[in-house]
Amino acid sequence: MLEIRNLHARIAEDGTEIIRGLNLTVRAGEVAAIMGPNGSGKSTLSYILSGRDDYEVTEGEILLNGESILELNPAERASKGIFLAFQYPVEIPGVATMQFLKVAMNEQRKARGEEELTTPDFIRRVKEAAAKLQIDQAMLRRPLNVGFSGGEKKRAEILQMALLEPSLCVLDETDSGLDIDALKIVADGVNALKSPDRATIVITHYQRLLDYIIPDTVHVLYKGQIIRSGDKALAHELEANGYADIIGQAA
Ligand SMILES: Nc1ncnc2c1ncn2[C@@H]1O[C@H](COP(=O)(O)OP(=O)(O)OP(=O)(O)O)[C@@H](O)[C@H]1O
Ligand SMILES: [Mg+2]
Repeated sequence: MLEIRNLHARIAEDGTEIIRGLNLTVRAGEVAAIMGPNGSGKSTLSYILSGRDDYEVTEGEILLNGESILELNPAERASKGIFLAFQYPVEIPGVATMQFLKVAMNEQRKARGEEELTTPDFIRRVKEAAAKLQIDQAMLRRPLNVGFSGGEKKRAEILQMALLEPSLCVLDETDSGLDIDALKIVADGVNALKSPDRATIVITHYQRLLDYIIPDTVHVLYKGQIIRSGDKALAHELEANGYADIIGQAA
């Protein structure tokens, strides 16, 4: 599904290289966890996948189902089914969450060659998905993310993901700021989306989330490279020992 080969990328403004020869393959149906120390490039990688123009790819390739996405703009990438849940979701004043969801869902349907949803059908889908995530109806009438608590923002991201049915989901620290119950609700939401034709990348600092969202593979990102890959046992090893050993071995 996703294949990243020898990716090098830098900050467009000042040319600092952040991603330095990164290789990563995530197969369809797979849940891959990415862990790694602060500042190693995890969020940058998710921004680059989304197509943000603050970053420049200088070398390497990103293939989605065998096709390069590097020349596609963010909207085109979204229409190919790439979905990002950001570490810091952006507030969109003046656009009710419901309205935002409707436009996003219909754009996605258009890209797939499907009819627009009728209003009753749309409302039914949103209500069902929101109920599963225990999101209050009143929240959906408010502007997207404006004044939402940290945990509410994360739930709103998962709601979008559930409704947009993406093929590649990237979740950046979706667990940060969630209370214990919300963590389970959000994890259940992610697990419910697991499917043979979808790949998910979960960026997290803590093994705790991976008790709820069981990853097929775990990768350690350090200084812009994947320096170790393994299965869920690797996350336990990191929780117990920290990164020092693995970084030492890679150096
Ligand atoms: N636009 C930018 N301008 C300046 N520095 C940047 C920019 N974007 C990223 N960086 C730097 O790139 C490095 C990687 O940042 P990134 O946010 O990807 O780390 P991360 O692995 O997500 O860390 P964390 O675990 O703290 O979320 C950091 O040193 C950061 O300061
Ligand atoms: Mg980050």
